[in-house]
Parts: sequence; C-alpha cells; structure tokens
Amino acid sequence: MTRQDPVGPVPRLALPSGETVPILGQGTWRMGERPHARREEAAALRLGLDLGMTLIDTAEMYADGGAEEVVAEAIAGRRDEVFLVSKVLPYNASRKGTIAACERSLRRLRTDRIDLYLLHWRGRVPLAETLEALLQLQRDGKIRHWGVSNFDTADMEELARLGGGEQVAANQVLYNLTRRGIEYDLLPWCRQRRIPIMAYSPIEQGRMLRHPVLQRVAARHGATPAQGALAWLLWQGDILVIPKAARPEHVRENRAALALQLTAEDLAELDRAFPAPTRKVPLEML
Ligand SMILES: NC(=O)c1ccc[n+]([C@@H]2O[C@H](COP(=O)([O-])OP(=O)(O)OC[C@H]3O[C@@H](n4cnc5c(N)ncnc54)[C@H](OP(=O)(O)O)[C@@H]3O)[C@@H](O)[C@H]2O)c1
Repeated sequence: MTRQDPVGPVPRLALPSGETVPILGQGTWRMGERPHARREEAAALRLGLDLGMTLIDTAEMYADGGAEEVVAEAIAGRRDEVFLVSKVLPYNASRKGTIAACERSLRRLRTDRIDLYLLHWRGRVPLAETLEALLQLQRDGKIRHWGVSNFDTADMEELARLGGGEQVAANQVLYNLTRRGIEYDLLPWCRQRRIPIMAYSPIEQGRMLRHPVLQRVAARHGATPAQGALAWLLWQGDILVIPKAARPEHVRENRAALALQLTAEDLAELDRAFPAPTRKVPLEML
C-alpha cells in the first residue's frame, strides 16, 4: 500500500434501522479550542469528507460548543453528505435539559437535525428520563437516531429493559489495541443484538504509536503505526472508527488505512503484544 492513496469507497455498516454509515469517520475533540486554528480544523474535516469519511462525531462538551461551530463551518453547503453525531452532557440530560441542549447544538451546528444523538456518559439523571427526551426529539425530527456512549454491559442491559430502549442505534466507547476490555462481554453483547460499537480514541490519542510491535507490523506493509492501529479495528468489519485529525496529512493517512490488509501473521503478532481480555474489565473512559 502507499501511505496516502485511498483505494475504493469507504465500506458502510448498517445501523439497527437499516440505514448505513461509513465505517471510518472523523472525531473532533480538541477542535474549536483555539480561534486561530478553526479554519484549518474545518478544512481538515472537509478534506475528510472529500475522501469519503462523511461521519463526523462531535459533542456539546468539546470546546464548550466550539467544536460544533467548527463542524458547522466544515459542513456548510454540504449537510446532506454528512452523518452528524453529537452528544448531550449527562448533567444536561434531564427531560427538559436534553431538549434544550439539543436545540443549542442544532444552532451551533447550523442545521435542522442531528443524525445520531448520544448520551455522552451516564450521570445522575434516571436513564428513563433521558430516554423519554431522546424519543421526543426523534418524534420531532430534531434527531434521526439516538444512542449512548461509555455504557458498559450492565448499563446496556438496564437500557434494554426500558420501553423504547431496544431502539438504541450505537454505543460509542473507548476501544483500540491497548484497550481491548470490551471484547470480553460488551462487544459480544452488542454484536448479538446488532448494536454497532463506535470506537473512540482509536489510536489512543497517539500514545500507542511508538509501540515496537505495532511499528514492526505496520512497517511490513509500508504503513505507519497509526494506519496499523486503525486497520486492526477496521478489519473487524462491524466497528465504526472515528480518528480525530486536524492535520491534512493525518487525514489522508487515516483514510488510506482502509487499504491496509493485515495478515493472519500480523493479527497473531498483535494479539501477543496486546492480549485480548480473559476476564471482565470494567469499561474504561477518557
Ligand atoms: N464519547 C467519548 O467519551 C469520547 C471520548 C474521547 C473521544 N471521543 C471521540 O473520538 C474521537 C477520536 O478520539 P481522540 O480524539 O480522543 O483520539 P485519537 O483519534 O485516537 O487521536 C487523535 C490524536 O492523534 C493524532 N493523529 C491523528 N491521526 C494521526 C496519524 N495518522 N498519525 C499520527 N497522529 C495522528 C491527532 O493529531 P492532529 O489532530 O494534530 O492531526 C490527535 O492528536 C474524538 O475526537 C471524539 O470525537 C469520544
């Protein structure tokens, strides 16, 4: 493979509703924090859209709404190309608070709908109350799908017992080679019910890139460690992967990770260096 050239379209994964989304999208945490960098951040997201990474993940939390404003700039004039994901903070997630938070996000995003709206993590508001608000937003057309983030297996079970809870469209969690805990029970639980896992911090915010085994496996393919880490998630075929990249060279590199085909030998070597869990590991979050 070459490091930068995308090959073919981005594969898609069906949500429980049947609608499909690209398996490789773009994150936005840390965007919008520095006013002078906003234009470049929006340009990086637009480049990602041009390359087919049309799922964009943001949140009201990021830069206190600043990331959503960067996203608005990036998607101006091309809203229909994009599958837009945003999140409500747990302390806003009351019946009324969720609706107000969503309306603020819509204003910052300069759009009339969010495609997938997630509860960012569990807080003190009873889940049933947040769910009621999410279902209301969906009925009103302000969000098209709803889901959760940082939900461990017990949280998913609790959600599934609530009326309407079975309609959850995704669970966004920390998942990468160095954080494989979900493989023990959460990932099988979600797979059995065809609830997609969206893997955040897929390259561990850069911390895993110096790992010698990851470097060696990637180098065998003329690829970078970041591409190796992304390819390991992508080869699974049913994980949504949302690396964040503000630098255009990173955007291109991440897109090209789809062309990296890990061999059985690569996978075995990665398994030895980054073992799968053999017992329950409580869900970690960043
Ligand atoms: N739900 C949650 O609680 C939660 C938590 C964390 C993250 N998220 C979401 O998941 C997204 C991704 O996670 P993340 O931002 O934490 O971490 P990440 O995507 O693992 O890493 C982002 C960092 O890696 C760098 N990078 C990107 N591509 C690279 C490449 N090819 N080579 C070398 N470095 C590269 C980026 O640099 P540049 O930006 O300079 O290009 C940035 O510093 C977030 O942006 C956010 O949307 C959700």
